[in-house]
Amino acid sequence: MSTSMPPQTTQDPVDRRAFVRTALDLDDVLLRPWSRKDAESEGLLDGLMAAAADPGIALWSPVAAADRSEALAWVEARDGAWDRGAVASFAVVAAADGALLGNVALRWVDREDGLAMIGYWVLPAARGRGIASRATAAVTSWGFATADARRIEIAHAVGNEGSCRVADRCGYLPEGTLRDSYRFGDGKYHNEHLHARLATDPEPAEL
Ligand SMILES: CC(C)(COP(=O)(O)OP(=O)(O)OC[C@H]1O[C@@H](n2cnc3c(N)ncnc32)[C@H](O)[C@@H]1OP(=O)(O)O)[C@@H](O)C(=O)NCCC(=O)NCCS
Repeated sequence: MSTSMPPQTTQDPVDRRAFVRTALDLDDVLLRPWSRKDAESEGLLDGLMAAAADPGIALWSPVAAADRSEALAWVEARDGAWDRGAVASFAVVAAADGALLGNVALRWVDREDGLAMIGYWVLPAARGRGIASRATAAVTSWGFATADARRIEIAHAVGNEGSCRVADRCGYLPEGTLRDSYRFGDGKYHNEHLHARLATDPEPAEL
């Protein structure tokens, strides 16, 4: 009986599933990785503090950036998460002037298994223009194409109709309701709708 190990023919899934910092150009909107350098931009820090103060974001997707020092720590943490390969966190900015419009983040739930989750928020002044849908669709395609994600999930509180529409538009099929599954910004547990897209699912209609 041979005691030799079988040859290694496949790359380790964890190595293969890397988040490589990339900018995604949507013409009028640019998605670019949050960076420590963003701490030098008062406009971006003000945008983050505005996000933290928005009641909708505070309820459904809280941003810990109540003041300048928290905003600085938030930016630092996003860059650190890219470094660790844990979360691909994109600032959504206006191509024309770099103003902050929103945020999309793709995080591994189980990197070895290719299971990830995506989240998003858009500042109130930029809502209703398809920005969440386009940005989420772009990061989804990027996650499947470059990080070998197998399945990406969206979970939103059942009362968050806007988020449900974004998930639908981006081709995330509804899979059911999770009961009292997540504690949101009001400190209460809410039921959530679970949506997911598989790498093998068709692309949604043009957004
Ligand atoms: C939910 C949110 C991201 C939507 O951002 P947006 O850029 O306005 O979304 P889009 O313009 O891409 O809208 C997509 C669809 O959702 C609908 N929609 C958006 N907000 C809605 C709302 N509050 N209620 C009902 N439908 C809404 C739009 O009409 C559009 O529908 P359509 O496909 O029929 O045209 C934004 O309102 C937000 O940041 N909310 C607070 C944070 C949050 O809920 N994050 C998600 C946590 S899971």
